Amino acid sequence: MRRYRIAAIPADGIGPEVIGAGLEVLDALATRAGFALDVDHYDWGSAFYRRTGAMMPADGLAQLRGADAIYFGAVGAPDIPDHITLWGLRLVIAQGFDQYANLRPTRILAGTQGPLRDVPAADIDWMIVRENSEGEYAGVGGRAHRGLPEEVATEVAVFTRTGVTRVLRYAFAQARARRRRHLTVVTKSNAQRYGLVLWDEVAAEVAKDFPDVTWDKELVDAMTVRMVRRPASLDTIVATNLHADILSDLAAALAGSIGIAPTANVDPERRFPSMFEPIHGSAFDITGKGIANPVGAFWTAAMMLEHLGENAAATALMAAVEQVCAAGIVTPDLGGRSNTVEVTRAVCNAIAGANVAS
Ligand code: IPM
Ligand code: MG
Repeated sequence: MRRYRIAAIPADGIGPEVIGAGLEVLDALATRAGFALDVDHYDWGSAFYRRTGAMMPADGLAQLRGADAIYFGAVGAPDIPDHITLWGLRLVIAQGFDQYANLRPTRILAGTQGPLRDVPAADIDWMIVRENSEGEYAGVGGRAHRGLPEEVATEVAVFTRTGVTRVLRYAFAQARARRRRHLTVVTKSNAQRYGLVLWDEVAAEVAKDFPDVTWDKELVDAMTVRMVRRPASLDTIVATNLHADILSDLAAALAGSIGIAPTANVDPERRFPSMFEPIHGSAFDITGKGIANPVGAFWTAAMMLEHLGENAAATALMAAVEQVCAAGIVTPDLGGRSNTVEVTRAVCNAIAGANVAS
């Protein structure tokens, strides 16, 4: 039997609720599709920090190294500064395992609605590729003269030819695998004339290797307008770490709810395990209420299955999710009245009735 080792890190807030739901659904699928998941559970996160002073153990990366994939919940707690929780766990893993491509698909799922009045659901079908290893998140900078009037802080965006080239190649390849075969390269190269002009130049070079992919460029501010006004003109989108962070929140909102959006932090060369997580954060306002939307964690699980090569199971999972959404079994963020357990049970039932070829 095909076996995969999954490292589950539910971490903070609603993370444990939605990752628990996701593991249940994955279990139901595995039985049907004829593979097995060996899940290692890690209790890292803010509670671990309060106990030990660190978000994860010093040898954390070594512990994860042998996993086939990492299934991650959410990170952040009201009593610990966000930059500590974030850099202490998620960014350490993403950068430590050189997961330089971050994939963020956006679609309006069957049975759900986006907020744009005149836009048919089919017009929003995007794949955002976020550079995930450098740029504005390179972690380069510092502070001097702390607390004094002359205090200075720098936050340096770092763009390397290697980093820009590899993510653009990955984005062109993603675009090539999609129906529309169109890539939009987002920058702000009118104002940021070093790093982002490098992006423009490398994009033009890489494009030569993908003659079957059409491409265009957009400045990030104009991009927000285009996403709202002309969503159908977009297909695959690539942008820097920070720009794509912002655009992917807009994308999730335009698709109806941040509660459904998934993401994959991928090491395309497969030297290290890749990490799969819903886009939403820890959501303290609803933590423990049992109403967190598990669909983001389900869609994320489907991306993880695809990465593992279990394509039939991934397709069956998304079909089950859409069937359940279309039946109106959705959480309050999507305008429904169901809770996490009810949505999860409905998806498991849909899987039980599905034909999952293995
Ligand atoms: C995301 C999130 C994170 C990010 C936060 C939690 C720092 O917004 O994955 O989009 O900016 O990378
Ligand atoms: Mg974000």
